[in-house]
Amino acid sequence: MNPTPNPFDPSVRAFDEHLGVQLSVIVPTFNEIDNIEEIIARVRIVLKSVRWEIIFVDDDSPDGTAAKVKAIAQSDPQVRCIHRIGRRGLSSACIEGMMSSSANFLAVMDGDLQHDEALLSTMLEVISQEDVDLVVGTRYMEGGGVGDWDKTRQTSSRLATQLSQKFLGVHLKDPMSGFFMIKRKAFESCVGHLSSMGFKILLDIVASAPRPLVFKEVAFQFRERLAGESKLDQRVIWDYFLLLIDKKLGSHIPASLISFGIIGSMGVLVHLSILGLCLDALGLMFTSAQICAVLGAMIFNFYLNNVLTYRDQKLSGFDFYIGLIKFVLTCSVGAVANVGVASFIYKGYGYWVFSGLAGILVGVIWNYVATSLIVWPKKRKNHQSP
Ligand code: GDD
Ligand code: MN
Repeated sequence: MNPTPNPFDPSVRAFDEHLGVQLSVIVPTFNEIDNIEEIIARVRIVLKSVRWEIIFVDDDSPDGTAAKVKAIAQSDPQVRCIHRIGRRGLSSACIEGMMSSSANFLAVMDGDLQHDEALLSTMLEVISQEDVDLVVGTRYMEGGGVGDWDKTRQTSSRLATQLSQKFLGVHLKDPMSGFFMIKRKAFESCVGHLSSMGFKILLDIVASAPRPLVFKEVAFQFRERLAGESKLDQRVIWDYFLLLIDKKLGSHIPASLISFGIIGSMGVLVHLSILGLCLDALGLMFTSAQICAVLGAMIFNFYLNNVLTYRDQKLSGFDFYIGLIKFVLTCSVGAVANVGVASFIYKGYGYWVFSGLAGILVGVIWNYVATSLIVWPKKRKNHQSP
C-alpha cells in the first residue's frame, strides 16, 4: 500500500501521529536565529494540507539557532533540529538532513527566506504527479531573477553556471541553485557518490547520479535576506573548483589532498620567485637565498592551506604561530624523506626524472598526512557561547 497517494488530498491532516511524513523540508542554518520563527510560519501556511516536517541542520551556530529550534520543537513535532558539533558545511548539512528523513519527498531551502517558500507546493505537485526525480527552483528562466545582486556576483554566478554545464555536462539552467525538491529514492541512489563539500549541493547531486536524473525547472525570484548575513565568501570559489575537479576525477583522491597539492604547486613558483629575487636583487649567496626561498614557500603553503584546505579547522591568533612552527618542522621531515627516496632510487636505477618525481610524491604525501594529523587535527568541539 502506498502511504502517500496524493499529498493534496484535503482530508489529510498536516500532522497525524499515525501517518508518516510526506515531505521533509531541510534547512541548513548557521547564525539564522532571527529567521527561524518566520520560516516555520510561512512553510506552515504553504503546506497546510500536506503532512510535512521541517528539519533545521545547524552547525552549532554561536547565535544559538539550534537552541531556538529545539525550544520550538518542544511543542511542535513538525519541527526538528540536527545539531552538529565540530563540523561546518552547507552541502554536508543538507545531506545529513536528507538522510535523517523517511519521507518520500525531500526539499532543500535556505534558512534566510531568500528562496520563495510558496514554490514548495508547486514543486510537490509536480514531483508527486509527474514522472520526475527532481524539481529545481531556477533563477535563470522566464519569471525568475536574482533581485538586486551587484554586477560581480551576477557575472560570477553566470560563469560558474556555464563552467559546470560545459565541464560536467550538467543541463540545468541554474545548477548553483540551493532550492529544490527530490524524491528520496533518487537522492539515495546518488548519496554514496557525493563529494559533500562546499555550497553546491544541487550540482553535486546531479553530477553524482549514477543515471541521469529526470528534472523539471520552476522559476523563482531570489529575494532579499530577511535577517542576518550571508556566509558566502571568496573561499566558496575554491570549494567550487575542488568540487568540479573531484567530480571529474571520480573521487579517487580526497579533495583536501587535491587542494594541498595545488597549493604546493603554487608554492614551487613562490619558491623560485623568492630564490631569483634573493640572488639577483639582494645578491645573497645561493645557500642563504635557498633557505629564504624554502621558508617563504613554507609560510605561503601554511597560510593558504590554513584558509582554504583546512578552513574548518582554521588556526588563528597564537595557535596560528604554533601551527606555523609545527608545519615547518613537519615539512622539513618531508623534505628529508623526499631527498632520501630520490637519492635511493637514483643510486639504484639512475633515472633522474623518475627519481626526482618519486621523491616529490613521497614528500607531498608525507606532508599532507602528517600536517593533517599534527597541524590541523580534527576538532571534537567547536562550541562557542552566543
Ligand atoms: N549548517 C550549515 N553550515 N548551514 C550553512 C553553512 C554551514 O557551514 N553555511 C551557510 N549555511 C546556511 C545559511 O545559514 C543559509 O540558511 C543557507 O545555508 C545559505 O547560506 P547563505 O550564506 O545565505 O548563502 P547565499 O545566500 O549567499 O547563497 C545562496 O545562494 C547561492 C546562489 O547564488 C545559497 O543558496 C547557495 O547554495 C547558492 O548557490
Ligand atoms: Mn542567503
